[in-house]
Amino acid sequence: MTDTLLAPAPDFDQPVAVLKHCHDKIRKQLKTLQSLLAHLPQHGADAAAQQAAQAVQKYFNTAAHVHHADEELDLLPMLESTATGDDLALVRRLKPEILAQHEQMDSDWNIINSHLEKIAAGNSTELSADNVARFVQAYAGHMEIEESHIAPMAKRLFSATQMQVLGEAMQRRRGIVPAGAAKVSEKAVAGGIALADLRMDYGRASLSEEDTLADPVAQFGKWFDEAMKAQVNEPNAMSASTVGSDGKPSSRIVLIKQFDERGFTWYTNYRSQKGEQLAQNPHAALLFFWPELERQVRIEGRVETTSAAESDKYFYSRPVKSQLAAIASQQSAPIEGRADMEANYAAAEADFAAAGGDRPQRPAHWGGYRLVPERIEFWQGRASRFHDRIVFTLQADGSWSKQRIQP
Ligand SMILES: Cc1cc2nc3c(=O)[nH]c(=O)nc-3n(C[C@H](O)[C@H](O)[C@H](O)COP(=O)(O)O)c2cc1C
Repeated sequence: MTDTLLAPAPDFDQPVAVLKHCHDKIRKQLKTLQSLLAHLPQHGADAAAQQAAQAVQKYFNTAAHVHHADEELDLLPMLESTATGDDLALVRRLKPEILAQHEQMDSDWNIINSHLEKIAAGNSTELSADNVARFVQAYAGHMEIEESHIAPMAKRLFSATQMQVLGEAMQRRRGIVPAGAAKVSEKAVAGGIALADLRMDYGRASLSEEDTLADPVAQFGKWFDEAMKAQVNEPNAMSASTVGSDGKPSSRIVLIKQFDERGFTWYTNYRSQKGEQLAQNPHAALLFFWPELERQVRIEGRVETTSAAESDKYFYSRPVKSQLAAIASQQSAPIEGRADMEANYAAAEADFAAAGGDRPQRPAHWGGYRLVPERIEFWQGRASRFHDRIVFTLQADGSWSKQRIQP
């Protein structure tokens, strides 16, 4: 097939066709790579070789990763949550194979890429025929599996809504705002739609007892990595809810800065409203919502302050302007106007300059809170509001119990 005969790009309302179109582009780049291999011994790293190397690099360093992510984070999980019987058995058999192929192709690509880097700069003619052959062959086998089993199954099983969800996820991954999303907000703005009618069905993935790791913090880490990979909006933003001695709850968004076996850490002003409430009642609840993955994580437990050394480490890792802002702001306290805030900032800046030090001092009332978890719930949206919920509860002996609860 010549370049000009490649089919025009389909729209994202046909996401499976878009994935097939990506395969056509991969085939085209693989052909270029093979031509380059044949070209180099006769012509060296001439202008044509440099151009070919750059084109192949451009594709496999960006678009190919996005394409793999479409399959790993959307297509395959959606198929796994939709297929039943023989279809499900086939997806479960093929998925590990496909993921392993992605890994193998990525590692072959890293070697080829390091060669292409030098060819693109005109500095070398080295390109391993073995690596190229293995890379081409791996992709050919891989695309064959997907085109003969996965794509037809997706076309057969996915509802129109699932196709839309898949297409929109693929668009977001490419930095495109899905047209469907705009339409909903236009209607809402036009007043033609009631909030109660803004309903979305979920069908991206499933969550079973076997899918979840034994340790909920490790499971959180897995989902957090997937949220990062899926480029969800502000994956580290979480709602933190506290309740003071008056028994009245309040919530706000903060950014998680660290999580490990000790707990989930964020930084703030200890004299803020949340600080005062936590001093009165150390119990708090954290909530992550990753809509692009149709996932929610609820974490509850007791909160402790981080050590001064930990707070220092984070405080001094921030830009100096943020350090000065933390010094200048009595978080949550009323102030007359913006001008007074600016004046407080200028005063903090002047104090810092006058002190002649290399960094401002962290105020003792600014530092970290760590929520030590006692209960962690993982929620995966499913079709028709029949969602998956797996909850981990800390036992007296320090182990975690795992329990499915109803949607
Ligand atoms: C995306 C986002 C991230 C935020 N991150 C933090 C944070 O890490 N620490 C913090 O103190 N406030 C953060 N805030 C501001 C808080 O939501 C809140 O306004 C502030 O902490 C005061 O809350 P309080 O009066 O309830 O104590 C963030 C707000 C948003 C919207």
